Amino acid sequence: MNDVLEFHGRHRLVPVVVVDRADRAWPLAETLSDAGLPSAEVTLRTPAALSVISAMTACPGFVVGAGTVVRPAQVEQAVAAGARYVVSPGFSAAVDRECRQLGVLLVPGVATATELQAALEAGRDVVKFFPAAAAGGAAMVAALSAPFPSARFVPTGGIGAAELGDYLRLTSVLAVGGTWLAPRDAVDSGDFERIARDVREATTLVEHLR
Ligand code: 3PG
Repeated sequence: MNDVLEFHGRHRLVPVVVVDRADRAWPLAETLSDAGLPSAEVTLRTPAALSVISAMTACPGFVVGAGTVVRPAQVEQAVAAGARYVVSPGFSAAVDRECRQLGVLLVPGVATATELQAALEAGRDVVKFFPAAAAGGAAMVAALSAPFPSARFVPTGGIGAAELGDYLRLTSVLAVGGTWLAPRDAVDSGDFERIARDVREATTLVEHLR
C-alpha cells in the first residue's frame, strides 16, 4: 500500500482544513502534530491554500495533501507546493490522468455504486465517500462494501466526533475525514487550544475503538 494510505490507515483520522491565512499554516501543523495527528488535507478553496501546503511541508513528519481538487491544473500546482496526495470531491477522468502523469496518489470522491464502480475500474481502490452524512452515512458505506469488497473508504462530509465510531467500526473504512477536527473559524481566530482539545478527544476515541 502507498505510504500515505498506510499512514492514514494507522491514524484513521484526516483533518480537512480550510485556511484563509498563510501565517496559520505553521502553528496549525504544529498543533495537529503535538496532538498526535500530523496531517492535513488542505482544501484549495482559499487564495492562501497553496502557500499553506508549502509551509506545512516544513513541519517534520507532517503529511500534507490537497483537497477540493477539481481541475487538472490544480494537481500540478498542489504537487509543486508539496502535496503528497490529491483529493477530489468527485471522480474526474482528467484529474485522474494528471495524477497518474505526475505520479501522485489520488483519492477520488464517490457517493453511489456507479461512481464507485468507475473509480475501481480506474484502479482507485481508496475513495472518499462524500458527502458522507447526506449520502447515507455508515449504513451506505456498509451497503457499498458488500458488492465491492476491495474498496476502502474515507468518509467525509457532515461527520463529527459523535458519528466517528459508526464509521471506524467498519473494516472497509480506512480513515474518517472532516473539518470538525480543525474548524475554519478556530484556525482563523488562532484558537489552537480548541483544535488540540478536539483532536485529542478524537484520537482517544480512535484508540478505544482499536
Ligand atoms: C470536504 O471538503 O471534504 C468536506 O467539505 C468536509 O466536510 P465537513 O466540513 O462536513 O467535515
